[in-house]
Amino acid sequence: MAQAASASASVATTVADAATDLDPAAIRRDFPLLVAHPELIYLDSAATAQKPQAVLDALLDFYTHHNANVHRGAYTLAADATLAYEAARGRIARFVGARDAAEVVFTRGTTEALNLVAGAWGPANVSAGDTIVVTEMEHHSNLVPWHLLAARTGCRLRVVPITPDGRLDLDGLDALVDETVKLISVVHISNAVGTVNPVADIVAAARRVGAKVLLDAAQSVPHRKVDVAALGVDFLAASGHKMLGPMGIGFLWARASILADMPPWQGGGEMIRRVTPTDSTYADPPQRFEAGTPSVADAVALAAAADYLDRLGLDACAAHDASLVAYALERLGDAPGVRIAGPLDAPSRCGSVAFTVDGVHAHDLATLLDGDGLCVRAGHHCTMPLHTRLGLAATARASFQVYNGTADIDALVAGIARARGVFGV
Ligand code: ALA
Repeated sequence: MAQAASASASVATTVADAATDLDPAAIRRDFPLLVAHPELIYLDSAATAQKPQAVLDALLDFYTHHNANVHRGAYTLAADATLAYEAARGRIARFVGARDAAEVVFTRGTTEALNLVAGAWGPANVSAGDTIVVTEMEHHSNLVPWHLLAARTGCRLRVVPITPDGRLDLDGLDALVDETVKLISVVHISNAVGTVNPVADIVAAARRVGAKVLLDAAQSVPHRKVDVAALGVDFLAASGHKMLGPMGIGFLWARASILADMPPWQGGGEMIRRVTPTDSTYADPPQRFEAGTPSVADAVALAAAADYLDRLGLDACAAHDASLVAYALERLGDAPGVRIAGPLDAPSRCGSVAFTVDGVHAHDLATLLDGDGLCVRAGHHCTMPLHTRLGLAATARASFQVYNGTADIDALVAGIARARGVFGV
């Protein structure tokens, strides 16, 4: 496929590859699925990333040598499992710059972390007359939990609009964020159009009125160093499976003082201090928010994913991503019939490029590209408000990880040209 690239693209390939310290061809060899399926050009890592051997090894090692329930058993195997689980918590705390491992609550993923804040912090801190601020760019997982909270408490939602090129329109932010605002919940990097949002401006607006800030970091932690202290946010939600870890594990980071005052969300074993038939008292964080048997092996493997990313170096990962995004914007921008959604300057984006092709529906495009081994996502990417605002029914999205190189983007551009040929456009 790469051979289908034009001569000018070959020159650009050299330039783009020179800008990165990572060798995607070598990295690809760390990913068993990509080794087993050399025909695949996987461009859907924003939906879920492929897993390196180190992550698969960690899962197998846990189940082979350490499997027991945590925080319960008096025997050595159970103590080992507990140590491994809590070490994984500490690893994730370090990964996001948290001061204390107890500030990390393991969840099923970003969605559950957001629901945890809306379901536990929300009713305790928000009531009728209060306001939650979200944006038009949010994934449904950062909208629907607030809709549920509004129905439960009578609070209102205010929405930061987006510009036609897919950025947050912050001109009216100061007017929007008044004393009634208790929380601004915002995405760090758009899963749909890749926009990197100005977190500092949002935190400053929140601080003026004493509101909290929740950052949906699902699409940032896989690509760049995310440091909760430097960001200055109050909550951060992320998924393991987009940062090369397993599905079914993610985390909420929150300031210790906030978690300390947060009531439980789900009830069950592990999250209690004392139970009688008619009432109960609750454990300290983070256990208070982890009812039932946790996904221990997945947490341990998530720590292995963090190790893997740190071995590559998150600055190198970020530089590699930036070079791929710039190259994709250049090649797709030159491709006939292709319209890019979202910002057109590479520094404003991270991780993905979404686009439409004149005369070819995004779903048809994705199906035709699949015939070439190209995996892209098509649809509204769980961002219906964003797509509605941009006047788009659906987009195709190519998203990147450390195993992608410029040849993958050349293949995408060639695949789009073939799809246009099939449709005669
Ligand atoms: N949120 C994921 C995506 O953007 C599933 O594809």
